[in-house]
Amino acid sequence: MLRDISNLRKSYSKNSLTEEDIPKDPFLLFDIWFKEVSSSTNKSEINAMTLSTISPSGYPNARIVLLKYYSYEGFVFFTNYKSDKGVSIDKNNKVSISFFWEDFERQVIINGTASKTSKAFSTKYFNSRPKGSKIGAIVSENQSSKINSKDDIIEKFNHISKEYLNKEIQRPDYWGGYIIKPIKYEFWQGGENRLHDRIRYTRDKNFWKIERLSP
Ligand SMILES: Cc1cc2nc3c(=O)[nH]c(=O)nc-3n(C[C@H](O)[C@H](O)[C@H](O)COP(=O)(O)O)c2cc1C
Repeated sequence: MLRDISNLRKSYSKNSLTEEDIPKDPFLLFDIWFKEVSSSTNKSEINAMTLSTISPSGYPNARIVLLKYYSYEGFVFFTNYKSDKGVSIDKNNKVSISFFWEDFERQVIINGTASKTSKAFSTKYFNSRPKGSKIGAIVSENQSSKINSKDDIIEKFNHISKEYLNKEIQRPDYWGGYIIKPIKYEFWQGGENRLHDRIRYTRDKNFWKIERLSP
């Protein structure tokens, strides 16, 4: 059966990205865009980003994770180091992250290398999480591995909740952050008649090479 969804289309016209809007450093543009998106009324999941990694078998894998910190140093998310993504990053730390901010008709794609954040940094963030999320991290020690049933997981959650009723939960070693240090950014601003603005920054020794790409 062919489900025809070809009429799902939309025109883009809200903004443009002209040469005057382009700072020398892409981090500044990311920061401007993120602040603009953050100031809008709809802030739902604006820090959700698609993280793509290369699996040991050579296939790319993409999934959503949440950006928790960003700075000139890089972009930070937290996860289980034993998960599929953790295993992939161990073997090949070249990754890509991308954001889609629908209300602003914007996309940002960043390529870079991922490395673990310091233990102290991971612990500080872990300690700030709600208790339920901390327990979730313990319950899902083997994130991405096969489980027998959802009931098993709920039972484990209840058991650990009781065990830690009056105790603090320490960050497990297998859980922490990654920081992605960018080597390339692409900023995409939707335009009329599909004439989108695409600006690419590529790290070149100590400066960023800036190029406009065909939409
Ligand atoms: C909105 C959203 C936010 C998510 N945030 C995270 C996150 O910050 N860290 C994380 O490990 N998984 C997060 N996930 C779950 C991942 O997409 C994924 O299912 C999980 O990390 C296992 O991925 P892997 O098997 O490829 O390692 C999120 C999923 C969604 C839909």
